[in-house]
Amino acid sequence: MRSHYCGDLNAAHVDEQVELYGWVHRRRDHGGVIFLDVRDRTGIVQVVYDPDIEDSFAAADSVRNEFVLKMTGKVRPRPEGTVNADMITGEIEVLGKTLEILNASATPPFQLDEYSDAGEDVRLRYRYIDLRRPEMQERLRKRARITSAVRAYLETDGYWEVETPTLTKATPEGARDYLVPSRTHPGNFFALPQSPQVFKQLLMISGMDKYYQIARCYRDEDLRADRQPEFTQIDIEASFTSDQQVMDLTEGMLRSVFKQVIDVELLEFPVLTWTEAMTRYGSDKPDLRNPLELTDIADLMEAVEFKVFQGPATDPEGRVVAMRAPGGARLPRRVIDGYTEFVGRYGAKGLAYIKINDLSAGVAGMQSPIIKFLPEATVMEVLDRVGAQDGDVVFFGADKFAVVCDSMGALRNELGRDLELTVTQGAGKWAPCWVVDWPMFERGRDGTLTPVHHPFTLPKCSPDELTADPLGAKAIAYDVVLNGHEVGGGSLRIHRQEMQQAVFEALNIGQEAEIKFGFLLDALKLGCPPHGGIALGLDRLVMLMAETSNIRDVIAFPKTQSASCLLTAAPGPVDDHQLRDLHIRLR
Ligand code: AMO
Ligand code: AMP
Repeated sequence: MRSHYCGDLNAAHVDEQVELYGWVHRRRDHGGVIFLDVRDRTGIVQVVYDPDIEDSFAAADSVRNEFVLKMTGKVRPRPEGTVNADMITGEIEVLGKTLEILNASATPPFQLDEYSDAGEDVRLRYRYIDLRRPEMQERLRKRARITSAVRAYLETDGYWEVETPTLTKATPEGARDYLVPSRTHPGNFFALPQSPQVFKQLLMISGMDKYYQIARCYRDEDLRADRQPEFTQIDIEASFTSDQQVMDLTEGMLRSVFKQVIDVELLEFPVLTWTEAMTRYGSDKPDLRNPLELTDIADLMEAVEFKVFQGPATDPEGRVVAMRAPGGARLPRRVIDGYTEFVGRYGAKGLAYIKINDLSAGVAGMQSPIIKFLPEATVMEVLDRVGAQDGDVVFFGADKFAVVCDSMGALRNELGRDLELTVTQGAGKWAPCWVVDWPMFERGRDGTLTPVHHPFTLPKCSPDELTADPLGAKAIAYDVVLNGHEVGGGSLRIHRQEMQQAVFEALNIGQEAEIKFGFLLDALKLGCPPHGGIALGLDRLVMLMAETSNIRDVIAFPKTQSASCLLTAAPGPVDDHQLRDLHIRLR
């Protein structure tokens, strides 16, 4: 039986007999003595085999990297001069007595200490090897601790964990569904849930009062660094609650998890309205570690001759902003050209700027491709409004509201990083906030309305007001944002059938909804309590707390950017007879 884990041994164990199990991390032959660095999930310990125990020595001589061993031996202090301060177990070593090879290993596809030379494809293909690395083990351990702290917090507050189906009907969260064909109902399909939204609402109608679930969700959507097709939510719902109560609960839970798992005291969570977030930061998930802000200047540009600014300034759907980047005048032309290309990806047609070398000299002290198109008084007024100083650069965006917000919001993040303005150290390196007062709907590219959250979100207005002016309706919805990532979103829900019907009709899916969600509409008529909740993206939360920028780093077996699993080669083809059973013919 294992007496200790490798990484737990230290000077306090000197003279103890130990039995260890682990993998050969490294084997070194030092002229007649063999040193094995043996690794398990706790760390690495050095085990030494002398030639005087012949069998064990021969076995130690024969092992190679990643062989699996059982060893016994005695802990002893390392000889003077050989103590390794970089290793937790560096003060001691184990003098090996027996050695049993439990399993050999072929040469691994990459060395665990030189994994960085291996591309991510190789690491994903051999994920079980990649997961042997201490860094990866630590991330999964952190994930387990976070989940455990979440559970403890919610359980203490009286939340019950209830599982909901994953073979179900579509729950609309704005992505495509993953579908599963039914064998017993030819031509019919289950959908994997995009979230447990509908079920958690039904649980409130069932009187469960406080529900949570660490729930797997599936969304077939374009992947990004912080998105996976299959991901996990901390899903929460409560009855007879208020938006403030849900926000307080979430905040309390996050504080407790950060404190317990990474010993961080989160500072306050400022509350921004959606309008304020878009106005000041050009984003509905602003990174508040970054001090840069957008300043509206349309009012100053309505009468100028420069059409690039004047057009959007006089368009009710347009926006013109300036963003002061302190110290940005030092940015070389090549970098600014790079930003111009960067904002182009967000639909911006250009990126105007003014570099300020000497403000006291007026426009003569500035460099800019647009200054010649603007009256000097206007330039000075803009610079005064943004508080520009010598050495700054001021960037400008002019276009439709959404294009300006997207492009300048993204540029704000780039500039914060490049000019080292975004705080990455100390207490300010964690910047949470709430974004509230969301619009209910937005207009899609095809002109139809889509819900900004989901269609079960409670509007702040009456059904009649909603019908009269759907785009003007605000939702009782709240997103929790951390360092520029949306880590959670929730809302109070519609609990009356008339309102739910009004929303479906505003979305122009009245009849379709009857077919898809008739069961929910019925349920709303049978004693539905007022209720609300939230869901946090567990993977994103762990990613942030583990300080990595890649969500795959905190998921044991993640999918690639193209939504495949390189380890199992899923998705894969299926046999003809399986397709026949499922009543499916491929085109
Ligand atoms: P929402 O769609 O905002 O809300 O999802 C909640 C949170 O889940 C995370 N998330 C993701 N994480 C990784 N990969 C993805 N593809 C992905 N998509 C979403 C985000 C997000 O904030 N039912 C509602 C919640 C509610 O209203 O209670 C919902 O699913 O961190
Ligand atoms: P142009 O008149 O198109 O040559 O543009 C003059 C300057 O304005 C250039 O520096 C462009 O990068 C910039 N510019 C063009 N369109 C926009 C826009 N929509 N928003 C901000 N700057 C722009």
